[in-house]
Amino acid sequence: MDDTTVYDFDTVIDRRGTAAVKWDLVNRLFGMDDLLPLWVADMDFASPQPVIDALMRRAQHGVFGYTACMDGYYDAAISWMRERHGWQLEKDWLVFCPGVVPAFNMAVQAFTRPGGGVIIQQPVYYPFMRSILANGRRILNNPLRLSCGRYEMDFEDLARKARDPDATLMILCSPHNPVGRVWTRHELEQLGAICCENNITVVADEIHADLVLPGFRHIPFATISNDCLQASITCTSPSKTFNLAGLHTAHAVISDPEKREAFSSVLMNSGLQWPNAFGTVAHEAAYRSGGPWLAQLLVYLQGNLQFLKAFIAKHLPQVQVIEPEATYLVWLDFRALGLEWRELKALMQEQARVALDEGYIFGHEGRGFERINIACPRSILRECLERMAEALRRHVDTADTPAGL
Ligand SMILES: Cc1ncc(COP(=O)(O)O)c(C=O)c1O
Repeated sequence: MDDTTVYDFDTVIDRRGTAAVKWDLVNRLFGMDDLLPLWVADMDFASPQPVIDALMRRAQHGVFGYTACMDGYYDAAISWMRERHGWQLEKDWLVFCPGVVPAFNMAVQAFTRPGGGVIIQQPVYYPFMRSILANGRRILNNPLRLSCGRYEMDFEDLARKARDPDATLMILCSPHNPVGRVWTRHELEQLGAICCENNITVVADEIHADLVLPGFRHIPFATISNDCLQASITCTSPSKTFNLAGLHTAHAVISDPEKREAFSSVLMNSGLQWPNAFGTVAHEAAYRSGGPWLAQLLVYLQGNLQFLKAFIAKHLPQVQVIEPEATYLVWLDFRALGLEWRELKALMQEQARVALDEGYIFGHEGRGFERINIACPRSILRECLERMAEALRRHVDTADTPAGL
């Protein structure tokens, strides 16, 4: 089906009252009324029209019994991967999972022992930490280094961590949330060489792979070499790309049959091996017909990013924008303000009245940073930035006022 619709990303769709985590749980989770939410990673935009149409047709059928992933679902995912990322998958490699977070949790259970070490690169998507700690494993942190406004991997430290006799797994975030890096082939080759030499299985969380900005190209970790293919579990989904997170549908790509078996048994033992009736329909439609929507989305997101950068340069000059190469999440460096993390949180929530993701939740290295989600109509982004600028102005004025006045 050809989608020639011109999408409107400017109109505000009121999500309140739809049980939206981002909007309807703000009071409960942040403990405050009236915060403007630009936090959790979903978008305030409607999904592509062909996806909505496919869901309507499915809903109208009226029978919602147990559902499986059928050939159409796999074929659409395979074509997308081939056409967008140049990776030819075999159908057998795809294992359905009810989300990428469940997928890396399964991988932790399948490929490490209690007490074993899992390598991650903080600051990083915080459920990585929970998947390790909640399963009774140990975090081996290989922190990213911020050099001239750009994050890089520390390969010497990674090699040391990979030699730890307890280390059997690494969870790689590619592209990286929250720092927005699209890892280069050279970086992935170095990482792959270290992990393969030390027999480390790599979970490549590539959920943001389609949201890459012009000038950058996502390279699936598994395509780096045959060793990387055999060593990896690639977790992917169109849920970030097309705003389908509430449908809880994803898949792990596992070419090694033993690894696939180990992973699938954990999934089956948890009773999570079947998809929901709407998730598969939406994902198939998105992969087949979502391209035109995605192209327009990426243009809109670039506009939002330009808007954010210009606004911050003019009205929030103390804040440094870490230039994203991918994702709709922007990592903002507030360290020049010299605030302790609790003070920064209070400035954002109590003074600016905005709900962002606090940097410290991504690990110690994230203290002094905030993550803002720009996948919203520009008017919402503007309001958020205006609230932040006003709070900062008041903060600076108070700090400048001599004591006793
Ligand atoms: C890196 C990364 N992985 C996974 C997820 C969530 O995956 P899912 O909703 O499929 O569990 C997110 C959502 O923000 C993410 O940023």
